[in-house]
Amino acid sequence: NLTKMRGLTAGTLRIAVVTTAKYFIPHLIGDFCQLYPDINVELKVGNREQISARMAEGIDDFCVFSHPPKKAEYLLTEFLPNNLMAIAPHGHALSKAGRIPLQEFARAPVLMREQGSGTRYAIERHMEKHNCDLNVRMTIESNEAVKHMVMSGMGVSILSEHALSVGDSSGLVVLDVEDMPIKTNWFLVRSRSRPISPVAEALLDYVKQEDRLAQLTTMLPGE
Ligand code: PGA
Repeated sequence: NLTKMRGLTAGTLRIAVVTTAKYFIPHLIGDFCQLYPDINVELKVGNREQISARMAEGIDDFCVFSHPPKKAEYLLTEFLPNNLMAIAPHGHALSKAGRIPLQEFARAPVLMREQGSGTRYAIERHMEKHNCDLNVRMTIESNEAVKHMVMSGMGVSILSEHALSVGDSSGLVVLDVEDMPIKTNWFLVRSRSRPISPVAEALLDYVKQEDRLAQLTTMLPGE
């Protein structure tokens, strides 16, 4: 049956993901392509605003967001948690403080992702909900650059656990802050108005298999 499915499923899978999803989506797609070697993949990476614009134009089979734009024609499949963690450089005063009140964390100079970032959107909503004003010191357009700027001692930040689990995080500590981490989830999003291709349908079935979530979760270092 699997061989039959393989033979039938060929074509191009177009998928666009927000920058923070680029750490794990390639593993999911890589495993999927082992099953369906005849599939071509076009993967686009951008921030939430850029991927929302692609979604509205109906360019891709799927987009991956943790904060999908709210539209009735968008069909969401939730597939993985995404916790946003408070971080500081090793040796930072707050890292020795025990449990830190959110208001106190917010007073430290904070390094933020750019306007249009989903990470930033989630942080701003969380701070609003808790009546906290962040002391934003810098705006930086990449998770990697935020990490390195934190390591260099310029301030604290809040980033997805996925951004922290990949690459160099050696100079960073996760802070124990009240009402943190910010808990969000990843969604695979497609539009009702775009007919689903056999390739896209195969990916959706693949993601929905019960063991898939467990496999992806074990790929996150530190879990
Ligand atoms: P970002 O997206 O890369 O735009 O910050 C992450 C997210 O939507 O959570």
